[in-house]
Amino acid sequence: MMELCLPMLKYNHKKGAQIIKTMKVAVLASGRGSNFQSIIDASKRGELPNANVKLLIVNKKKAYAIERAKKHNIPYYFVESKNRKRNQFDSEMLNILKKNKIDIIVLAGFMRILSPIFISEYKNRIINIHPSLLPLFPGAHAHRDVIEAGATESGCTVHFVDEGVDTGPIILQQSLAISSLETEETLAKKILPLEHKIFPKALNLLSSQKLEVNEGKVTIHTD
Ligand code: GRF
Repeated sequence: MMELCLPMLKYNHKKGAQIIKTMKVAVLASGRGSNFQSIIDASKRGELPNANVKLLIVNKKKAYAIERAKKHNIPYYFVESKNRKRNQFDSEMLNILKKNKIDIIVLAGFMRILSPIFISEYKNRIINIHPSLLPLFPGAHAHRDVIEAGATESGCTVHFVDEGVDTGPIILQQSLAISSLETEETLAKKILPLEHKIFPKALNLLSSQKLEVNEGKVTIHTD
């Protein structure tokens, strides 16, 4: 079955992308927020013409992403995740997202698994960046797992979020070769700039209504 990623909007394939409105984007982060920054920067360069970063939600009080939001006058919310049931945490986030009429959710180093209810509310409208070539090396320790496996290449993936861990339909990937001297740290350092390239690109495709999901596979519509 063909699923339009932003079903409340019209997409005319014959005429190409018809942008009806600017998408309101929320970024969810837990830490450093360099991927959040890459989206802010892309937006400032005019590379996200159909996306408006409305707010940041963090689940860690000390997340450096907060400083980035402050610097760029982006409202931010702290939602406590510690010692809270997943549904409770998720419904607090959903309230914020609904109140702000958010269309698209970007997980930028957000270290929490979202509940099925949350995901179904935003089906095909949540994207995540993962530092490996999915479906290879999912999970929280991708670089370590890549090195331990002796892989000769790795990279990063932007994908839609589904109920699994790093299993959703893949939107964009970028790869690089791994040298035999590589460590977890050197690999992370090499892959991060690739993440910063493909994440805003994928967000632009989604907010410009150029993505469709068909049987778990993403089709990118080019002009
Ligand atoms: C990135 O490597 C991302 O792929 C992973 O978590 C890290 C977050 O980094 N999901 P940052 O907070 O965006 O700097």
